[in-house]
Amino acid sequence: MSLYQRIAFILALLFCASCWAQGNNASVNDARAFQKKLDSMTIKPYHQPLAATGRDASCQLCHGAKTPATPPDDGNCLTCHGSLDQIAALTEPKSKEGHPEPNPHNSIHYGKDVPCSACHSEHKPSQVYCNSCHLFKYPNMKP
Ligand code: HEC
Ligand code: HEC
Ligand code: HEC
Ligand code: HEC
Repeated sequence: MSLYQRIAFILALLFCASCWAQGNNASVNDARAFQKKLDSMTIKPYHQPLAATGRDASCQLCHGAKTPATPPDDGNCLTCHGSLDQIAALTEPKSKEGHPEPNPHNSIHYGKDVPCSACHSEHKPSQVYCNSCHLFKYPNMKP
C-alpha cells in the first residue's frame, strides 16, 4: 500500500467507527423514549385494583410481557373475566320491551367473536365498534 492508500484506509475506518457510534446512540435514545412512554401509560379506573400487584406485574396481567409493545391477546382478558358465553350473559337484554339495545357481546353479524379491544380500549377512551354503522346507546358502558 502507498502512503496515500494507507491514509485513505485509516480515514475510512474512522468514518465507519463514528457512523457506528451514532447508530448506537440513536438506538439508545429510542429505547429511552420507549421506556418513557411505557412509564407514562395509565390503566382504566376500573382496572386500578390490578396495580396492587406492582406496576410491571400489572402490565403483565394483560400483556403477558413486562415491557409490552403490542396489544394483548383476548385470552388474557378471559382469564379474569370468564368465557365468552359468561360475558355475553352479563349483557343479554332482560326483556324485549321498549326496543332494548342489542347484546354487544353476541350480535347477529359476528356472534361472540369480536376482539375485546374493538370496543374496550385500555390506554385511551373506549368506543362501541357497532356505532361505526349504528347509533346504539350503552349508558352503562364504562368509558
Ligand atoms: C387480572 C385480572 C383482569 C384482567 C387480565 C382484565 N381484567 Fe377487566 N376487570 C378486572 C377487575 C377486577 C375489574 C373490576 C371489577 C369488575 O367490574 O368486574 C375489571 C373491570 C373491567 C371492565 C368494566 C366492567 C364494568 O363493570 O363495566 C371491563 C369493560 C373490563 N374489565 C374489560 C377487560 C378487558 C377488555 C381486558 C383485556 C384487555 C381485561 N378486562 C383484563 C380484572 C381483569
Ligand atoms: C362490540 C363491542 C364490544 C366488544 C367487542 C366487547 N365488549 Fe364488553 N361491553 C360492551 C358494551 C357496550 C358494554 C356495556 C353494556 C351494558 O352494560 O349495557 C360492555 C360491558 C362489558 C363488561 C361489563 C358487563 C357487566 O354488565 O357487568 C365486561 C366485563 C366486558 N364488557 C368485557 C368484555 C370482554 C372481556 C370482551 C372481549 C372478550 C368484550 N367485553 C368485548 C361492548 C363490547
Ligand atoms: C387491563 C388490560 C391492560 C393492562 C393492565 C395494560 N394494558 Fe397495555 N394495552 C391494553 C389494550 C387493550 C391495548 C390496545 C390499545 C388500547 O386499548 O389502548 C394495549 C396496548 C398497549 C401498548 C401498545 C399500543 C400503544 O398504545 O402503543 C403498549 C406499549 C402498552 N399497552 C403498555 C402497557 C403498560 C406499560 C402497562 C402497565 C402499566 C399496560 N399496558 C397495562 C390492555 C392493557
Ligand atoms: C359495517 C357496518 C355495521 C357494523 C359495524 C355493525 N352493523 Fe349491525 N347492521 C348493519 C346493517 C347494514 C344492518 C341491516 C340494517 C337493516 O336491515 O335494517 C344491520 C343490522 C343489525 C341488527 C338488526 C336490525 C336492528 O337494527 O335492530 C342488529 C341487532 C345489529 N345490526 C347489531 C349490531 C351490533 C350489536 C354490532 C356490533 C357488534 C353491529 N350491528 C355492527 C351494519 C353494521
